[in-house]
Amino acid sequence: MPPKRTYICDDCGNVTSQWAGKCTACGTWNSIVEEHAEPIAVTGQKSKASRRGAIQLESFDGKEQIIKRYETGFDELNLVTGGGLVPGSAVLVGGDPGIGKSTLLTQLAANLTKSGERVLYFSGEEATAQVRLRAARLGIKKAPVELAAETNLEAILATMKEGKTPALCIIDSIQTLWTETVEAAPGTVTQLRATTHALIRQAKKTNCCIIIVGHVTKDGAIAGPKVIEHMVDTVLYFEGERGAQFRILRAQKNRFGPTDEIGVFEMRDTGLSEVSNPSELFLSDRDEQGPGMAVFAGIEGTRPLLVEIQALVAPSPFGTPRRAVIGWDNSRLNMLLAVMEARCGIVLGKHDVYLNIAGGIKINEPAMDLAAVAALISAFTGATLPKESMFFGEASLSGGIRRVSYMAQRLREGEKLGFKKAYLPANMNEKPKVSIACQPVSHISEIAKMISS
Ligand code: TYD
Ligand code: MG
Repeated sequence: MPPKRTYICDDCGNVTSQWAGKCTACGTWNSIVEEHAEPIAVTGQKSKASRRGAIQLESFDGKEQIIKRYETGFDELNLVTGGGLVPGSAVLVGGDPGIGKSTLLTQLAANLTKSGERVLYFSGEEATAQVRLRAARLGIKKAPVELAAETNLEAILATMKEGKTPALCIIDSIQTLWTETVEAAPGTVTQLRATTHALIRQAKKTNCCIIIVGHVTKDGAIAGPKVIEHMVDTVLYFEGERGAQFRILRAQKNRFGPTDEIGVFEMRDTGLSEVSNPSELFLSDRDEQGPGMAVFAGIEGTRPLLVEIQALVAPSPFGTPRRAVIGWDNSRLNMLLAVMEARCGIVLGKHDVYLNIAGGIKINEPAMDLAAVAALISAFTGATLPKESMFFGEASLSGGIRRVSYMAQRLREGEKLGFKKAYLPANMNEKPKVSIACQPVSHISEIAKMISS
């Protein structure tokens, strides 16, 4: 029988029996690659069931295991991981090349050695001299991290087994790793899966925490970290705009903690430093308040986060006007523009519309609608919004403003940062005790009236 061929999408991991130019599941072009379907040889082991028959079953009410965690030395990282790194867990750190993954992990490795733990750092991308140079720049040259430039999985596993069991082992990056058990080039889906699988087995067996770096790639030459997301315990993405100094670490999946928390870091010339009050930083270098600028009181995880929304509306020289969004959902902007047209009579069909969230952060909350509407109307009319005011509330298709969660936290954060007025949904359950003036808004047309008056 000829070997069975399967094809897999690098982006979403969808498996098909036929090659296609475009993935039918996620719609990405040129992301489908051939996968060799031969079973991965797991070094001479039979499955447990075939060796000793039935397995021992347990009840929910069994002995509780208290999860011990390694303190990472970064409060922001502890928050995102849910209290620190769990021994025996596998963590994937994804992100664009150059975003600062190696920097973060080098700093983390050094922090962990302070409590006497053994830390191994395998660099497949950079020579040891380069990693040492980075460590010197970060001022952690003396940290007893054990370093090697290695890409062969078998050599890495053998090193991990030797001597004292390491607490943490960092693989930078999974796309450079290769195993002899499969015949495929490093960076292919087959290699990624086989090497990750072996690393996770080793982590569970020895109780060593493994951090795997995965580059997010757009060109499809190497497989992206998406194809191994389901195998690991925790998936963290490191994101940020190129050129902006803020970096946001976001948990996409976490078997040992929350997934909605973010950690905010700042890239300095001496490495990454934590930002414990992100709102202050995101609003600190604000320009003079002008038309098209509104402050949104958002929530990321359990923390309030105030950010500045900037909108620009200009007559379009082309038949089809441009709509561009940075840091928010494009279709949400289109929806708001339609609602503004239908319910307020503000027609932007012949205008280019740009919406940007300052500082390079991505917002997923629908609560941003009211702030976006305020910024857009202000940009369109050229009238500046009231000074020291902030906005939050979700818009419905009727133009009504709906209630959002965490009202009190948002208001308290605004109060702390010196805001005087908050525009918020009218149907509040109860009024929080804050000194900030609350202006209830029940329909987006009220914002238009407020601006024009
Ligand atoms: P790096 O950690 O190598 O990114 P990744 O591993 O995600 O590809 O670092 C990326 C950038 O950070 C690099 O362009 C240089 C910059 N950088 C600083 O600004 N300050 C520093 O202290 C270090 C070490 C790097
Ligand atoms: Mg790197």
